[in-house]
Amino acid sequence: MIFNNINEAEKDPILGLTEEFKNDLNPQKINLSVGVYQDDNGNTPTLPSVLEAEKEILNQNISKTYKPIDGDKEFIEESIKLIAGEAIFPEIKNTSFGLNTPGGTGALRLSSDFLFQFSPKSKVWISNPSWPNHKPIFEASGFDVTSYPYFNSESNSIDFENMISVIKEIPEGDILVLHGCCHNPTGEDLKGDQWDQISEISKKNNLLVICDFAYQGLGDGLDDDAAGVRKMIRDLDNIIICSSYSKNFGLYSERVGCLIYNSKFEDNYTPVLSHMKKTARSNYSNPPAHGSEIVKFILSNNSLRSKWEEDLSGIRNRVKDMRSLLVTELNNERCSKDFSFIENQKGMFSYTGLNKDQVNSLKKNYSIYIVNSGRINIAGITTKNCKYIAKAINEVI
Ligand code: LMR
Repeated sequence: MIFNNINEAEKDPILGLTEEFKNDLNPQKINLSVGVYQDDNGNTPTLPSVLEAEKEILNQNISKTYKPIDGDKEFIEESIKLIAGEAIFPEIKNTSFGLNTPGGTGALRLSSDFLFQFSPKSKVWISNPSWPNHKPIFEASGFDVTSYPYFNSESNSIDFENMISVIKEIPEGDILVLHGCCHNPTGEDLKGDQWDQISEISKKNNLLVICDFAYQGLGDGLDDDAAGVRKMIRDLDNIIICSSYSKNFGLYSERVGCLIYNSKFEDNYTPVLSHMKKTARSNYSNPPAHGSEIVKFILSNNSLRSKWEEDLSGIRNRVKDMRSLLVTELNNERCSKDFSFIENQKGMFSYTGLNKDQVNSLKKNYSIYIVNSGRINIAGITTKNCKYIAKAINEVI
């Protein structure tokens, strides 16, 4: 019988650690694995702007009937506006559409399932390193997944020369996955002229770009973080953007994301949307609505939107402060390794260069949980636990 021959699957490299963390009895334990924001008390509060929106929505007694397969029209329009910005939105509003998806992961999987139906021979190119879930998502649809160089761990910076030389050779019709901002796991983002070059090659070689855009607003701000994505929207004939509201609205468990497609060819719009809807219908049918109602409500209400932007600045600034504090504490420990690069990285994560043994030792001896690759979630550091973390890192290296 089928069930008798199944071996246990490997634990998820990120969410599996949170399971282990929950079972750890050490009162000093610290979870720096999954990318979830924590405040200085180690809690993940619901944002005040989100709470206010939830109260208003409750008063409106909104029906729980099914949403359309592609989701709520206003939510989608607000999502496209947020990504494109006021300047580009008028240019693309007739050539783009969106589908509200269950989280950014849902948007990636929907893109992948859709593309595999029409281009199963294409290869998917992800950065090395990348979010550990990218490969499984595209492989689950049936794609071959390979990687392009991204990070130089000697200099702790983008290995742009190698990246661009590999991308130049990617065959026409392959799929190039880029991180829109706050690269996960390295925290190292492409600069303006680097975006220009990648955009030019993608256009020239006819690559299909998918931008994973899960951290808008967590790096330098809502507009600055979107600069690369906006450039690509303007330049490329076709682009898919997978956005997420997990981090910038703190709506993790509500699963709110959006797949946005823009094409210079208006004729693509209707057939592509029809097949994406068909793919969504056979997968999750139609999106969950509570989270997207909150996002729609906030983005379309001036006063709530300002409050949300303040909440988001609070998150961004606390993460930046924790980067500086960690570097200071590591210096105080007289750590032999220079960690000053942590201060320049963007978003929630930092790629510390700690090896697997050091990561294991942090878990075993200090109950500090970080991802095997050495990625730490800076948003899990607090003014209270930072000294302990720095001391432990110093000791394991
Ligand atoms: C992360 O990278 O930690 C987050 O994107 C959460 C996840 O689903 O892996």
